[in-house]
Amino acid sequence: MKTHSSTYWINYFLENATINRIDWTLEPLINSKEKDNILKSLKAWQLAETGDGKHLMHVSKKYAQKVNDPEYPEAVNLFIKEEQKHGANLGKYLDLIGVKRLEKNWDDSLFRQVRYFNSSMELWTITVLTVESAAQIFYQALKDATNCQLLKQICTDILIDEAAHIQFQKERLYIICSQKNAFSRWLACLAYACFFTGTSLVIWLAHRKLFKAGHLNFSKYHFKMKNKLRKVASQKVLFETDTEAQLQTSPLF
Ligand SMILES: [Fe+2]
Ligand SMILES: [Fe+2]
Repeated sequence: MKTHSSTYWINYFLENATINRIDWTLEPLINSKEKDNILKSLKAWQLAETGDGKHLMHVSKKYAQKVNDPEYPEAVNLFIKEEQKHGANLGKYLDLIGVKRLEKNWDDSLFRQVRYFNSSMELWTITVLTVESAAQIFYQALKDATNCQLLKQICTDILIDEAAHIQFQKERLYIICSQKNAFSRWLACLAYACFFTGTSLVIWLAHRKLFKAGHLNFSKYHFKMKNKLRKVASQKVLFETDTEAQLQTSPLF
């Protein structure tokens, strides 16, 4: 797999932060049926996107020292800022439609606890990758579940950011895995798949009303998540050598 340096990611995040994809002069237009389908989940994700990222920063700094990648914490810091931007935009939307923001809910508290006890960069990375993968499906479903142009633009902005977040984390998981021997890597892939699948089920249960409003039933959701797992943390991806990656990307003669 081709991986990028932390400096590349810092430059990417700095550049992306200068792009404004949302026209805030649009009037938020959301009907009561949409509100009923959307709001509970939207409020939960708004809260989840607003974490301070302190613990992730702490783990990243320790990891960066160990692998001698002094730029990495700054890349993670900018990544966290982008997540906070998502939370701020969703919060601004809730304010505009006169809906109170959520302060705390059970699944958010649960994820925060899991994150708190998670002091390994590897566990952090697979956790973030799992949540980001579900986020891509979630925000697409949210976009499809509303006719409000402003909310659709907020979702599009998040979806563009999330695609890069997944690449950023996927590269890190690959770097971490390439330090392992073949057996440990195989075992790790198995553990990633269990964690990924279990978490995706919890997310479906918590947000199925919204997914269904966005035209996704469980089998479609499950299929999409399985596909994402294959792309980010499967044996095929994590065992890929540089040579294979080059062969796959080199043009045909
Ligand atoms: Fe996000
Ligand atoms: Fe993200």
